[in-house]
Amino acid sequence: MTPPPPPVPSPDRLPVFPSGFLWGASASAFQTEGAAYADGKGPSGWDAFAAEPGRIKDGADATRGTGFYTRYREDVALLAGLGAGAFRFSVSWPRVVPGGSGPVNPAGLGFYDRLVDELCAHGITPAPTLYHWDTPLPLEEAGGWLDRDTAARFAEYAAVVAGRLADRVPMWITLNEPAEVTLLGYALGEHAPGRQLLFDALPAAHHQLLAHGLAVQALRAAGADGIGIAVSHSPVRAAGDTDEDRAAAGLYDTLTNHLFSDPLLTGRYPEGFEGLMPGPVGDDLAVISQPLDWYGVNYYSPMLVGAPAPDALDSYAGLGMPAGLPFGLREIEGVERTHFGWPVVPDGLHELLLTLKGRYGDRLPPVHITENGCSYEGTDDRPRIAFLDGHLRALHRAVADGVDVRGYFVWSLTDNIEWAEGAAQRFGLVHIDYDTLERTPKASYAWYRDAVRAQRAATARSRD
Ligand code: BGC
Repeated sequence: MTPPPPPVPSPDRLPVFPSGFLWGASASAFQTEGAAYADGKGPSGWDAFAAEPGRIKDGADATRGTGFYTRYREDVALLAGLGAGAFRFSVSWPRVVPGGSGPVNPAGLGFYDRLVDELCAHGITPAPTLYHWDTPLPLEEAGGWLDRDTAARFAEYAAVVAGRLADRVPMWITLNEPAEVTLLGYALGEHAPGRQLLFDALPAAHHQLLAHGLAVQALRAAGADGIGIAVSHSPVRAAGDTDEDRAAAGLYDTLTNHLFSDPLLTGRYPEGFEGLMPGPVGDDLAVISQPLDWYGVNYYSPMLVGAPAPDALDSYAGLGMPAGLPFGLREIEGVERTHFGWPVVPDGLHELLLTLKGRYGDRLPPVHITENGCSYEGTDDRPRIAFLDGHLRALHRAVADGVDVRGYFVWSLTDNIEWAEGAAQRFGLVHIDYDTLERTPKASYAWYRDAVRAQRAATARSRD
């Protein structure tokens, strides 16, 4: 006998978040816009990478995305129906500056201008990310993030976007997940630009951080305010109780968490790393660590890490893990998994926020969860609802335990192109039919809408 389906958690039973809490949804340009070569857009490193046979595992046509470029009004209407307070989207650098430097493409900038107007007209706060992985191809070909110049070009582009949008945009994100770009793009080669440099990829981390710092300066000079960054964080647990396992987990923790948050929030690299960066980096660190208005956390799952061993995973979440790494990833047992195979561990969100608070204290600015979500396919959307319910409860516990969290952006509004996985991983609250690009809200869309509505009603009641 098949067990009865789990009950759907009631959206009005969530604990109440503080008044003014921002309820949002996230997306990115490459994953949704399509129109890869329309209206003067230049190619990105991801356009070139996706065009190479075999790079996108299911062969999905990444040049179409979800058609957001032409259907953005439909998606803004979906956001409005959700009651979203904010929408995190990304600006495509090669749409705005097709060559990576030099002339600005007015049609590209015009698109974001219209999008921002459309969001504002619906009372939705626009929260653009300036870099969600789509480096202009000419810059990628010149070395991409391995080249210090890319950071300066990024700041010029940030100034252009802010010059046009800062009058209506109160919330900015410089970069998305510099750790993933370094690791997946430059160290392991599973993402664009497909480099496999292992530890020689570290300059890509430094130059992205520098780009962030220079962009913060450029944004402020252009009158922008409300500046943050979206950094991926995962609690890292040691696979065993040996010195080797602990050391391997510590190294992994440093590489994927603190290598980015330490320089941003303390102006220093973790011990032993400054000398590995393209230096001297002293002055750069002062630029990198300029005060932020808020700090964005992307959370998906914890990691179980031990010493390299024969039972370590040779692939993780679709990524090949090459032999010879100084750590090995292990399967977390006894928990639910998403369609992607990622472990579902809501407590990890509570744990990582308290860890960040413990490590940085008052240096940690107010936090927004800039991404959190899961990939499930099929018509039964209850697992996604359970995921959201569990993670929001864990987030609320972190708030109750003293972490100043101001907002939550679900990943993602619609299904979209999941990078090298193609269309096979569906993270959306809204289903995309990739043949027709038709949008169909899933059960989780209605659940999140009702949860947001209940939260607003509860905070309004407590004000009366
Ligand atoms: C990225 C998103 C991606 C999501 C799920 C994050 O690493 O910022 O673009 O779709 O995770 O993999």
